[in-house]
Amino acid sequence: MPGDLVLEVRDLKTSFQLHKQDYRVLHGVSFEVARHETLCVVGESGCGKSVMTLSIMGLLPENATVQAQSIRLDGQELTALSPRQMNKVRGRKMGMIFQEPMTCLNPLLTIGRQMTEGLKLHLGLGKEEARRVALETLKQVGVSNPEERLRQYPFQLSGGLRQRVMIAMVLSLNPRLLIADEPTTALDVTIQKQVLLLLRQLKHQLDAGVLFITHDLGVVAEIADRVIVLYAGVKVEEGGVRQIFEQPAHPYTIGLLAAVPNIKSEGYTLSPIPGTPPNIAQAIEGCRFHPRCGRATDICREQAPALRALAPGHSAACHHLEVRP
Ligand SMILES: Nc1ncnc2c1ncn2[C@@H]1O[C@H](COP(=O)(O)OP(=O)(O)O)[C@@H](O)[C@H]1O
Ligand code: SF4
Ligand SMILES: [Mg+2]
Repeated sequence: MPGDLVLEVRDLKTSFQLHKQDYRVLHGVSFEVARHETLCVVGESGCGKSVMTLSIMGLLPENATVQAQSIRLDGQELTALSPRQMNKVRGRKMGMIFQEPMTCLNPLLTIGRQMTEGLKLHLGLGKEEARRVALETLKQVGVSNPEERLRQYPFQLSGGLRQRVMIAMVLSLNPRLLIADEPTTALDVTIQKQVLLLLRQLKHQLDAGVLFITHDLGVVAEIADRVIVLYAGVKVEEGGVRQIFEQPAHPYTIGLLAAVPNIKSEGYTLSPIPGTPPNIAQAIEGCRFHPRCGRATDICREQAPALRALAPGHSAACHHLEVRP
């Protein structure tokens, strides 16, 4: 594990209250992100990935309860902060890149206005300095004619350009942690590749760590340094990107890999994991994956497996671990 952590999350448990009942979505997830690394969180839709990022950012709706032993960002404990303090931290230290750039861009304001307002508000820059930083960041993310872009409105830009502008807006504030929740899912393949390449190139220029959420293992292969695999609100495996792709240990990870075309997973044929992740109201005893697992035995139905170390930096939670050579 590299030193210099920007994010440390310990035992994150998030529940939602629906019709006066509590439903737990995250069941005690722990992980960390180091500076200059990209940690990918992967899992099927509904596994709790977005709830995880929103819990960290303090952006869940009122029916949510977030409990954690600790959520530390750049050494600062976030669990004790008031909503107002949290608002400040979000603007200054966390940058968020979403799937749909229009959720971050105001359609009524020019790009220049939006970028400079953020810089003035969060970094206290003067008008000229804010404009200079905005131009510089647009160039850094490969936006051509940045002067002209500053005068344009979001609707005048293509989808790929909007994505770059949103990334530039986030980066200009020099965050410690960049959170990207499925940022490329809605883009066509060529633009998706360009955005991933950009994020890879930026990684070392930034003084930040990246938490990258995706359901797509193809994207993980392109961008991750380390990976955590989330299933139904539980971290089932964690490892370096090569460990996850070359020596997947948890049956869920193996199933995810086997279901992806174009990814080499020797010995496994392309086949989706039967069934779907449980919904929020479904109580499951023992291993949360057991209803879908071909290896399940009695112990799996009775006891939740703990995470076990397999190699330095590589661990998985399963009663019947088999590491392929
Ligand atoms: N505001 C909410 N109220 C109740 N349940 C929610 C809410 N937001 C998300 N959930 C539930 O939490 C689970 C995880 O959702 P989510 O984190 O969005 O999954 P993912 O991002 O992995 O696709 C889902 O079962 C979803 O229905
Ligand atoms: S603990 Fe049992 S059910 Fe869960 S993944 Fe391992 S073998 Fe499958
Ligand atoms: Mg999501």
